[in-house]
Amino acid sequence: MKHDIVEKNVGLMAILIVIAISFGGLAEIIPLMVSRTASEPIEGLQPYTALQLEGRDVYIREGCNNCHSQMVRPFRAETERYGPYSEAGETVWNHPHLFGSKRTGPDLARVGGRYSDDWHRVHLINPRDLVPESNMPAYPWLEDALIDASATPAKLSTMQMLGVPYSDADIAGAQAEVEGKTELDALVAYLQNLGVLIKNRGQ
Ligand code: HEC
Repeated sequence: MKHDIVEKNVGLMAILIVIAISFGGLAEIIPLMVSRTASEPIEGLQPYTALQLEGRDVYIREGCNNCHSQMVRPFRAETERYGPYSEAGETVWNHPHLFGSKRTGPDLARVGGRYSDDWHRVHLINPRDLVPESNMPAYPWLEDALIDASATPAKLSTMQMLGVPYSDADIAGAQAEVEGKTELDALVAYLQNLGVLIKNRGQ
């Protein structure tokens, strides 16, 4: 039988397995490459301000993405809890992406505007002050650590190189924008911007 040939020939079976699996991969990858909605920014999308970009770096450094995803899936249970599902065009300028998959804490893709700045500050300094049963770590040092403003322009120009539409004026003004701000200020500015564009569109 022809099937015997495949089962008794490991090399041939390996090749056929790769071909079979690649169909699934292609079905996911090709639409993303040709579809404009996956690569074009949604209407009204703005690059992060210098302060928000610094906040995003703090988010990455502190490993917030190990416990929080940023991707609302298109299921009713998710949209009822978190808001409108995530669209690819919201994150085209994110380098790297922070979609994540681990949800020890809630998804944060639409957390912008859900709480006040003060709520976030108290929560980040000690989550237990607001949510007694929380197992989120406390980040009290963010309040005292100043952003290294001298490094900010280089971060913006790196993003510009990667295709984020920062103007040269944005880069020139970046240092002054974050001068004297703390890491906590930056992180809160970042969180408050997450997902607000679509949320405010009132879908
Ligand atoms: C060990 C896992 C863990 C880490 C790491 C973590 N969190 Fe959390 N986070 C949680 C849990 C659990 C909750 C839910 C309880 C609460 O609100 O404190 C939460 C809640 C939140 C909320 C409120 C979300 C909502 O919709 O109510 C925000 C905002 C948040 N975290 C931001 C952060 C940021 C920013 C960082 C990094 C500086 C971070 N978290 C790191 C576990 C984590």
